[in-house]
Amino acid sequence: MTKIGLSYDDILLIPNYSEVVSRIHIDLTTKITKNFKIKLPIISANMDTITEFEMANKLYEFGGLGIVHRFCSIEKEVSIIEKLRNAGNEICAGSIGVSGKYKERLKALVDAGTNIICIDIAHGHHKLMADTIDLCKKYDVDVIAGNIATAEAAEFLCKNGADAIKVGVGPGSMCTTRVNTGFGIPQVTAIKETFGITKEYGIPIIADGGIKNSGDVAKSLAIGADSVMIGELFAGCKETPGTIHKEGNFPDYRLYKQYRGSASLESKMERGEKERNIEGISTTVDYKGPVKYVIKNIEDGLRSAFSYAGANIIDEFHKKVKYIQKR
Ligand code: XMP
Repeated sequence: MTKIGLSYDDILLIPNYSEVVSRIHIDLTTKITKNFKIKLPIISANMDTITEFEMANKLYEFGGLGIVHRFCSIEKEVSIIEKLRNAGNEICAGSIGVSGKYKERLKALVDAGTNIICIDIAHGHHKLMADTIDLCKKYDVDVIAGNIATAEAAEFLCKNGADAIKVGVGPGSMCTTRVNTGFGIPQVTAIKETFGITKEYGIPIIADGGIKNSGDVAKSLAIGADSVMIGELFAGCKETPGTIHKEGNFPDYRLYKQYRGSASLESKMERGEKERNIEGISTTVDYKGPVKYVIKNIEDGLRSAFSYAGANIIDEFHKKVKYIQKR
């Protein structure tokens, strides 16, 4: 089967008649999973150079959410969740995989008060994913399942009890899946195809990967996503894990932090995993300062987008906005 696949850069949103008087009164509240809502449709990626306590706590303060990564000991992930709880975060989200000590990790996270579990694997249209959703459902938690990029996979996850679906196979900035394996679906097409299914089940979509600016956030929401997951835009911010490095001397110096794919060689080596199936890269990103400025920029762009759409709430935005293909 051949299809034309579209990514964010291939489309633009079409302006609508609007009665939106003030961008301040636009309500950006969205469903992150079947049972949980957040005030800003922005989630920080569960990557080891993006989301630990500082990032998750700051996003929650601004109405979004950070999903804590799983590329550390169970004790460390649990202690981050506990810290978030103690800081008053009512929604806490952690990650598990589908192999190794994932059962122990799941139980420890639930015991620590995690209310959203993200089952985070590269190819979510997999039997092990269905088995792990089943396992999670023995606990009182909502489950985000991913990543997938097709209607068939969305149907599979919805039928197997996922409470949210994470869409994105290959669009991430650190991702080499498409280069190494030839597999992937451009993100606009992936969201559109999966939304065709998830809307029937009332299951929200998290569009994950490839977001370069607030315009891409608006595009993903317009096509059907309920929230977006962001890595690179947050990389290099003060609240990301890891140290700030300095290169050169005053006045010709550069401050930077590391940003790496979860399946990159560097990440796998640090975890003591085999140096095989590398599907990500590692890079450095200029130090960006506090993440609140990045969050505010995205929020401002999104509020303007709602004004162009003539939408006051996310549901109207979904329904009203059409897009045009650029070429
Ligand atoms: P952005 O574009 O925001 O994307 O940096 C973040 C998302 O990229 C995915 N991710 C990976 N994908 N190999 C991949 O194929 C990797 O090593 C890798 N690490 C992260 C992930 O979905 C993340 O949220």
